[in-house]
Amino acid sequence: MAHPTGRRLPDWAPAIMLVALVALIAACSPDQYPQTTLRPRADFARESDQIFRTTLLWATIVFVLVEGALLVAMWKFRNRPGAAEPVQTHGNTTLEIVWTIIPAFILAMIAVPTVRTIFKTAAKPGPDALQVEVIGHQWWWEFRYPQLGITTASELVVPVGRTVTLEMTTGDVIHSFWLPQFAGKRDVFPNRYNNLWFKAEVEGDFPGQCVEFCGLQHGRMGYRIRSVKAEDFDAWAKDFNTPPRDFAADSAADPLVKQGQALYTAKGCAGCHSMYPALPLTGPNLHHIGSRSHVAAGTLVNTDENLARWIKDPQGWMRGVLMPNLGLTDDETKALVAYLRANK
Ligand code: CUA
Repeated sequence: MAHPTGRRLPDWAPAIMLVALVALIAACSPDQYPQTTLRPRADFARESDQIFRTTLLWATIVFVLVEGALLVAMWKFRNRPGAAEPVQTHGNTTLEIVWTIIPAFILAMIAVPTVRTIFKTAAKPGPDALQVEVIGHQWWWEFRYPQLGITTASELVVPVGRTVTLEMTTGDVIHSFWLPQFAGKRDVFPNRYNNLWFKAEVEGDFPGQCVEFCGLQHGRMGYRIRSVKAEDFDAWAKDFNTPPRDFAADSAADPLVKQGQALYTAKGCAGCHSMYPALPLTGPNLHHIGSRSHVAAGTLVNTDENLARWIKDPQGWMRGVLMPNLGLTDDETKALVAYLRANK
């Protein structure tokens, strides 16, 4: 291989590049990428992962065989000094038939399982599935559990081992709901309902994301999927289905929390955010906000500092978000954080 300047690359250069490439690929562990689809954690995700693996297997076989044949041909029939011009051929019926049949066979091996999976994943689960209505908003996700009378936001709690069926729509523009490790993606449209289902296999807290450009803060339209044991799910649903505590009427309550509760109404938070288990308002439902792992549409870990940062200056984190900057003082922020934290 002649370099433009006339210098040649050293003979060991390709070997070094190959080693570097292998090391680079090996360094890509799915654990570092929580939104990876290469680590299925539900039946739906496993089905689509299987298609990916089937396709990848066939593509690898084709690559190795074709590139291998090419390399052999390049070596075996390379030009030698004084060699005669090779025999020129055109058309070979046997070859034409063989290289039509082989790709047709490979495509069939990929198409049959793909079509089968498309039908399987498009089917609606039975009535014993847990129903969740998913509603996209700029820029957060709302989750309603009609069988349980629960409305929540930014955290999709599901039981392990039970099929969850999602009926999805949007309150404003087109969004796309994606459950990376559990199921696929589905666009949501106004006045139309799309379905998706999955059965979680493991417990955990995983990130999810809107995957359709839906405005300024599309990139921060996240949410969490929390999969829990069936009995923990029942306990969560029962616990969630209680009205919020009234700290004002509780003589034992922390005065800071009481002050926060008063501010929650006085500052107008209550106009958009419901503290009741099943009351949807304009903004995300905040019932049991204190026990959620994340705030701000799944984009900030639910710590006192992040909660304060978020309510004090929502526009600073999500420019264009409906939530206004209320001009809270540090003391007011602290009281509101204490109140929200106490709601768990
Ligand atoms: Cu909603 Cu992107």
